[in-house]
Amino acid sequence: MIRTSHDQNMMYPYKLPNQKAFFFFHTLPSPNPNPRFSPPAAADMVCIRRATMDDLLAMQACNLLCLPENYQMKYYFYHILSWPQLLFVAEDYGGKIVGYVLAKMEEEQSPTEPCHGHITSLAVLRTHRKLGLATKLMTAAQNAMEGVFAAEYVSLHVRRSNRAAFNLYASTLGYKIHDIEAKYYADGEDAYDMRKQLNGRQIHGGGHGHSHGHGHHHHHHGGGCCSGEAKKPAASAES
Ligand SMILES: CC(C)(COP(=O)(O)OP(=O)(O)OC[C@H]1O[C@@H](n2cnc3c(N)ncnc32)[C@H](O)[C@@H]1OP(=O)(O)O)[C@@H](O)C(=O)NCCC(=O)NCCS
Repeated sequence: MIRTSHDQNMMYPYKLPNQKAFFFFHTLPSPNPNPRFSPPAAADMVCIRRATMDDLLAMQACNLLCLPENYQMKYYFYHILSWPQLLFVAEDYGGKIVGYVLAKMEEEQSPTEPCHGHITSLAVLRTHRKLGLATKLMTAAQNAMEGVFAAEYVSLHVRRSNRAAFNLYASTLGYKIHDIEAKYYADGEDAYDMRKQLNGRQIHGGGHGHSHGHGHHHHHHGGGCCSGEAKKPAASAES
């Protein structure tokens, strides 16, 4: 059974308290014109780092607050166990997770299919938007896909109505519309299937695009950002 976001929010209450007040304090314009005495910019108070197992509950909480496509915890575990290099979080100075990107490598559908990555989910808390955090999270995931797995391109789905995300992908990050998938989402909305070309260089000796399967069979986009398949988490998380 799929729980509603509301139910899950009850399970994982989100802590905002004094950190939020501090954040707003630091986003006020400095009264002092001397830049040496300016408070740090809000974006500088957030670090982008690779996610660990300990971040998964907070990533799920952030997802529940930000998106209607929600996933069971096992789907987060599946990602981090399979492609630990591709999950990133934005963490504020107080240790709170304020954004995340959940990404994976796709199974090749055929020997001729180029190795490619997929953005499963991306979100930044409302209080921390328009600071460039999503751009940094996406860039980190794309670089890891390219550098670790030699991905040739990265794909994602986005709702037609999601202007903020569409602008992020199309204008800031250079994704192109590859296709339109009619009624892709559970509520009947269409998705843009978007892609961005990567260099496909393999920098580290580590993983390779072929080595991630471990017997799982994901014939589709496995519950994407955004994915309509998010409504069927058991199917997307299991072979
Ligand atoms: C989409 C989302 C991840 C963007 O996060 P963010 O950290 O605010 O994004 P950034 O600050 O990196 O913004 C980069 C660009 O995205 C676009 N953008 C971001 N927010 C926007 C908005 N509200 N309206 C229009 N464009 C927007 C702009 O082009 C922006 O560049 P600019 O600042 O030079 O104008 C965030 O709004 C979010 O979490 N939304 C809810 C969840 C969601 O929709 N996830 C994506 C699902 S596919």
